[in-house]
Amino acid sequence: MKKLYGVIGCPIQQTMSPLIHNDAFLHLGMDAFYHAFHVEPGDLEDAVKGMKALGVSGFNVTIPHKESIIPLLDEVDEHARRIGAVNTVVCENGKLKGYNTDGPGYVEALKQVTQTSDKRMLIIGAGGAARAIIYSLLQEPGVTADILNRTPEKAISLIEEFSFHDRCRAVTMEEAVRSLPTYDVIVQTTSVGMHPHVEETPIPLSTLKKNAVVSDIIYNPLETRLLNEARLKGAVVQNGVQMFAYQAALAFQQWTGNVPDVERMETLVTERLG
Ligand code: ATR
Repeated sequence: MKKLYGVIGCPIQQTMSPLIHNDAFLHLGMDAFYHAFHVEPGDLEDAVKGMKALGVSGFNVTIPHKESIIPLLDEVDEHARRIGAVNTVVCENGKLKGYNTDGPGYVEALKQVTQTSDKRMLIIGAGGAARAIIYSLLQEPGVTADILNRTPEKAISLIEEFSFHDRCRAVTMEEAVRSLPTYDVIVQTTSVGMHPHVEETPIPLSTLKKNAVVSDIIYNPLETRLLNEARLKGAVVQNGVQMFAYQAALAFQQWTGNVPDVERMETLVTERLG
């Protein structure tokens, strides 16, 4: 019987998840379909019960449900629980188990452009996306990170919550700018520079280290002002398409046990956005 997968979110019409998952099912010859479901916050509990009752095999969870779905699941993977957000649910034998593939997906994506161990990083942001990314990046051996956030208290409490004091510190904009020549990798996790605010940039890149990697999780536009400036300074740059593709690929593997073609996913997303 055809298996059904999907994503729940609000808004949801812009999601590119059905595009890449349905293409992967077709490409792998699997009898399955992926659909985007618009679910209002007040309907989340009913929607989750509905997924179970209808025998949906697995689904993604996006804004604004990633945190609020946790108490509605039968089981939550330890990493997702520590991150405090679930983006992937596996339904097996009538039980729903939550995972987070955003953090590991980001790390996999970053590994496509640089080795991740023993790197000194600047991570910009301390919101929901940053939590998953910081948690996962700091599992990599030898990573140390400065965290820059508009609201410094959020960076400080995130470091405390994860007990990352020995490898992380919250920095001011002034400190981050001064330390720019020391960072191997700059990771941008905020919405600054996202369409339609394409003129905005979260930090001036005056003195970038030679061969630095600058990675921005934004994919609309495909090249943010930050990435454009970094590229012109000779940095290795990465936009958010690879992270999007890898978090999807990890969810796909979690559901089906099959490894999808990630490059194909990246191409589809880039073509759709380009
Ligand atoms: P997401 O789940 O996408 O990470 P979020 O949890 O609302 O969304 O976090 C948004 C992040 O972008 C935060 O780090 C936020 O900074 P604050 O913690 O100070 O709010 C950052 N951000 C959003 N708009 C910003 C702006 N105009 N300037 C600087 N930082 C901004």
